[in-house]
Amino acid sequence: RLVSMTDMLNKALDEKYAVGQFNINNLEWTQAILQAAQKEQSPAILGVSEGAAKYMGGTKVVVAMVNALMETMDITVPIALHLDHGSSYESVVDAIDAGFSSVMIDNSAFPIDENIENTKKVVEYAHAKGVSVEAEVGTVGGEEDGVIGNVIYADAKECKRMVDEAGIDALAAALGSVHGTYAGEPVLGFAEMKEISELTGAPLVLHGGSGIPTHQIEKAIEYGHSKINVNTELQQVWTARTREVIATDQKVYDPRKIIGPGKEDIAETTKGKMREFGSSNKG
Ligand code: G3H
Ligand code: ZN
Repeated sequence: RLVSMTDMLNKALDEKYAVGQFNINNLEWTQAILQAAQKEQSPAILGVSEGAAKYMGGTKVVVAMVNALMETMDITVPIALHLDHGSSYESVVDAIDAGFSSVMIDNSAFPIDENIENTKKVVEYAHAKGVSVEAEVGTVGGEEDGVIGNVIYADAKECKRMVDEAGIDALAAALGSVHGTYAGEPVLGFAEMKEISELTGAPLVLHGGSGIPTHQIEKAIEYGHSKINVNTELQQVWTARTREVIATDQKVYDPRKIIGPGKEDIAETTKGKMREFGSSNKG
């Protein structure tokens, strides 16, 4: 059974580790990540962007697939199914009604009062159904699903207001992280991170988790991050393997032999992240 992120993130915050959000695109991705979580005895969050949900046939298809796999794969570790970067109240309600156990409402492009107000409405709907809510303050940079953001640092007072007034369960405070690949070493605002963590007391979420070196990941966890989102790296390792399969076997045409092998790479990379984030054996 799917669970919300609330307990897993509060426990992570207490014990100073982070739970990974791993974004899924299809059946293979879901199998690989669930397998990794069970093997590592780690909690995990399956992230689904609006674009990915649409690609898979809608939120109902996603919920049915995830629930069926949880059952047939005998998954016993805590798993949350989370809408990533939900853009509107309607989109979030659709995911919750379909059976998602967690949602993000990302109205960070709106003025802060509007962002808080819209998030609060989502929290009221979600919490009545036991669903956890993540919100964003500031702007994560880079591109995801065609949405381009220029880095805007989260303001500490606005973060405090978001947590207190909207009553969210997790806060994505943008502090220099970027979706997609980084040009050179990421530059994260650690001083601001520490301040926001101490001021809000909320579990923080690090978006753009791909390509961040271990020492920065460790520091981000020390400064209050209990959720780290990883998407791009899984896509890169799967694509690398798939290219290799096609290049080395010119005669292959069975789709299972083409898209299947990369599952192993997704699972291995996911396990590595779980160890790095400290969530292994916390399930
Ligand atoms: O919301 C998803 C994440 O922030 C993924 O970021 O693609 O850079 O790993 P990433
Ligand atoms: Zn993100």
